[in-house]
Amino acid sequence: MLTKYEMQIPKYTFAGENALANIQTIVADRKKIAVFTDQGVEGAGLLDLILNQVKAAGKEFVLFDDLAREPSYGQVQEQVDKFKGCGADFIIAVGGGSVMDASKLVSILATDQYKVKDLLDNPRLAKKVIPSMMIPTTAGTGSEVTFNAIVAVPEKSVKIGIVNPEMMADYVILDAEMIKNLPRKIAAATGVDALCHAVECYTCKKVNPFSDTFALEAADLILNNIEKACDDPNAMDAKRAMQIAAFYAGEAIVCSGTTVVHGLSYPLGGKYHIAHGVSNAMLLVPCMKFNESDIKDRLAAIYDRAVKGQKTCTTVDAKSSYMVQWMGEIVKHLDIPTSLKEFNVPKEDLDWLVSAGMEQQRLLSNNVKLVTPEAAREIYLSVMDY
Ligand SMILES: NC(=O)c1ccc[n+]([C@@H]2O[C@H](COP(=O)([O-])OP(=O)(O)OC[C@H]3O[C@@H](n4cnc5c(N)ncnc54)[C@H](O)[C@@H]3O)[C@@H](O)[C@H]2O)c1
Ligand SMILES: [Zn+2]
Repeated sequence: MLTKYEMQIPKYTFAGENALANIQTIVADRKKIAVFTDQGVEGAGLLDLILNQVKAAGKEFVLFDDLAREPSYGQVQEQVDKFKGCGADFIIAVGGGSVMDASKLVSILATDQYKVKDLLDNPRLAKKVIPSMMIPTTAGTGSEVTFNAIVAVPEKSVKIGIVNPEMMADYVILDAEMIKNLPRKIAAATGVDALCHAVECYTCKKVNPFSDTFALEAADLILNNIEKACDDPNAMDAKRAMQIAAFYAGEAIVCSGTTVVHGLSYPLGGKYHIAHGVSNAMLLVPCMKFNESDIKDRLAAIYDRAVKGQKTCTTVDAKSSYMVQWMGEIVKHLDIPTSLKEFNVPKEDLDWLVSAGMEQQRLLSNNVKLVTPEAAREIYLSVMDY
């Protein structure tokens, strides 16, 4: 438990019914709006909901809609370069973590001073240049509330998190319209990503009262809503709960941080382009089994909070193993792959995976139990049972 801790949060967050309508007042004093999105979000008809608000406010806008999913730092740099000279004085990001992360980088790099590549070595170099608004369409990365941006680094086949408080959004809008028709597969993977954020932040070295508050509430909401939100297209209450929970879990990242699941997941995204939520979901249970001996009290506390009705487990041991099992059942229920076989990862890559995973010390050093190369090997092997 940290004895000194702090919290940052976006200046304004609007949530609930018709939250999108706030866009008009937010942009009222701006000259020109840069709207970032991607083809998937645009294809789902969500972009129009935003552009209609911008148009109703009588504002000029410029659209950036060709961002790749989970982009490399070079692909983000292309967005930065295209943005420069467009004359916009405000950024709206409409999308999942990919779009929001890229836009956050644009918000601090829209000058000629630094490039995305410079931030890989020294993330704190750049300062906020353009104010930003995040509108998440997945639930989700929580990227709307964090000041992290994750980029792929192709030459190293990994993903790297750039962390800079200047990237904190000025405005966030959580409107359930944006996730209403999220396809089940994406809702499942991004929802389990949020679960990982909550559980990792609640069981990490840097736990503190701020992160505990957000992480525990997020875990409770996700555990009790994720299946319904994914399975039932009309379950708007469950979807709204997931949207709020993803935001809370993101705030938990701001206050403490993720650990072994995310650390070992990055090479899987970087080299084999497995979606972030999928690689996390795959590693969640093996990592929890590895960690369990050292985090039983904390898993038991999640049990006490999240299990509704009659609680049949009475000991810390029983509660903690119930939690590991419950998380496994959720991943299974949501049909998320649990083996690297589905992604044609050759077993010969195990040594590379271990060394690339061990490089993620920013996250691994926040894990309560020491993650040795041998432990990383065992965890990767457990998802390579073929
Ligand atoms: N900054 C952070 O704190 C943070 C935290 C976790 C993950 N991330 C990063 O975020 C990225 C992943 O983001 P993600 O999981 O939100 O997925 P994503 O943004 O990559 O989106 C996945 C796919 O879903 C589509 N999509 C998004 N919303 C949709 C909707 N409502 N309807 C239909 N299709 C939709 C997108 O077009 C895309 O094809 C990764 O790069 C990951 O590393 C960042
Ligand atoms: Zn994540």
